Amino acid sequence: MEQKMSKWGFKSEKRTVTIRDFLEILKGNLNKNDKRDVIHLGHGDPSPYPSFKTSPVAEESLLNALRSSLFNGYPPSAGLSPARESVAEHLSKDLPHKLSEGDVFLTAGANHAIEVVLSALARPGANILFPKPGYPVYEARAAFSNLEVRHFNLLPERGWEVDLDGVEALADDKTIAMVVINPGNPCGNVFTFEHMQKIAETAQRLGILLISDEVYNHIVFGSNKFLPMGLLGSVTPVLTLASMSKRWLIPGWRLGWIAASDPNGVLKKSGIIESIENYLCITADPATLIQINLSMISVFEYRYEMKYFLKGAVPEILEKSTDAFFSRTNDTLRESADACYATISEIPSLSCPHKPEGAMSTMIEINPLLLEDVKDDVDFAMKLAREESVMIMPGSILGLKNWLRLSFSVEPAILRDGLERIRAFCSRHSNTLQGYMKLESRRCASSNLMHDDC
Ligand SMILES: Cc1ncc(COP(=O)(O)O)c(C=O)c1O
Repeated sequence: MEQKMSKWGFKSEKRTVTIRDFLEILKGNLNKNDKRDVIHLGHGDPSPYPSFKTSPVAEESLLNALRSSLFNGYPPSAGLSPARESVAEHLSKDLPHKLSEGDVFLTAGANHAIEVVLSALARPGANILFPKPGYPVYEARAAFSNLEVRHFNLLPERGWEVDLDGVEALADDKTIAMVVINPGNPCGNVFTFEHMQKIAETAQRLGILLISDEVYNHIVFGSNKFLPMGLLGSVTPVLTLASMSKRWLIPGWRLGWIAASDPNGVLKKSGIIESIENYLCITADPATLIQINLSMISVFEYRYEMKYFLKGAVPEILEKSTDAFFSRTNDTLRESADACYATISEIPSLSCPHKPEGAMSTMIEINPLLLEDVKDDVDFAMKLAREESVMIMPGSILGLKNWLRLSFSVEPAILRDGLERIRAFCSRHSNTLQGYMKLESRRCASSNLMHDDC
């Protein structure tokens, strides 16, 4: 018997396009006959490459925890106490106030931290402010929580600082929070302290929560030092979201956290902390094994009952070796960022307005007028995948049309190969003078200008 669709009380629509969605589309567009390896510059997972191998300390402590059979049970919903306390101690080293276990909530990576915080904050009619360009998981999460999203600009001409006038203009009495990402994905910028102060003062004046995504904390290789937004917790309450994924090069281990820097106790009084705790009771936990491993990884001062796992290793020695480990990663990323900047500057149809100084990616502007047969950023990415087996993220997915996000956290030799394939692609598609004139006159006609004015 035929049934009418209107009989059903449910229906769903696809809400957003994420980086992962677009990577699948790009994969489908690769040329299977191309014998060359595919080069992945479209997403930031350095872990498969030899130059970005995690520290042996992290691996060893995980194996020890596994073999002990002591950590096979459920963890508490906000995370194991020693692990929460370790994160609190670790973060407090960079803060004027001391965080305690109760200020830290463990999550399955920073993506899960985004889910927890947005779900805990959402209420009917509320809106939230995100950066453009940004990290699309925020938009996707907000859509699933029915939160209205408003975008403020990051300004390329000012080293991708936040357009604070824009923030003031967007906010109203329904705005609950603003998100900043520092060091920045996708732009590779690092905020100065002066700019962070202005952001915190703006959030305080508007009465909105400041959410600081610091998943790339300490991954800096330019002139600006990494400073946590929690430093300004007494100006305005700050929720910091971060994880082990990038700094320890273990995104697959899925361990992250939410940390509240709020010496004035505003978040407790307003019920936000309770709401986060409530949400954590109903969502999945990071594996117990990974949590206990966290409290043993060298950078976190180790002093719990599981001490024997370290088998007498001296924490100071481990501290030193991890310093070397972190510097090695940052040095490799600095060289890769320099190589990207130098090569892109030599390609006439592309430009990179700001040399990356942190995180693992950079934004590149395309001048479609200088390219033939390439309509826009999405077309660029699709054709590049097809013709050169290089995957790169179109800026449209992150909110900026006719830009590209290039993730440079791959093996340096592979990156160089990828950059040369991009150069070859642009040169093959470079516009002849005739083509350029044709496009120019089309542009003039569509903007209703007299030809002479163009
Ligand atoms: C800005 C930003 N926030 C959050 C995340 C998610 O991090 P995780 O892998 O810990 O879930 C990423 C991952 O790339 C990111 O770039």
